Amino acid sequence: MMKVAVIMGSASDWDVMSQACATLEEFGIPYEKKVLSAHRNPGPLAAYVAAAPDQGCEIIIAGAGGAAHLPGVIAAYTTLPVIGVPVKSKALMGLDSLLSIVQMPSGIPVATMAIDGARNAALYAISILALHNPDLASRLKQFRQQQSDKVLATVL
Ligand code: RP5
Repeated sequence: MMKVAVIMGSASDWDVMSQACATLEEFGIPYEKKVLSAHRNPGPLAAYVAAAPDQGCEIIIAGAGGAAHLPGVIAAYTTLPVIGVPVKSKALMGLDSLLSIVQMPSGIPVATMAIDGARNAALYAISILALHNPDLASRLKQFRQQQSDKVLATVL
């Protein structure tokens, strides 16, 4: 059973999207990773998203670059929360990816992260899961505390 599905439009997104997977692993969240393109695999993508809740999936993280329709198309097929990661593109440095993901029509939301913000996508998913998991909530607070301590301990 998985809690989070991490979907990316191409294997070329893996360098970025692996950071989401690594973060989910850090917190012990069961997840599944999958390459499915909104444009190249529309049918299998729709089937995967429709079946996801039966696999225990509560949140979908979707990363894509360029004409990055993947998160929005996924959001069209499910009422699960969808977190979008704009992957930096070669031609336009990810601005195309960002705008494709963030400018959703009213009624079908995607929570859009920064360009290449895959780690924050996982942390945001963890915040949502922590709403009904007190142990996870306390580990997330601990993570924030450690992060804060690290900054405060910085000596230049
Ligand atoms: C998008 O097009 C993918 O998400 C990827 O970021 C971009 C390029 O894909 P490839 O041509 O490298 O497969 O669909």
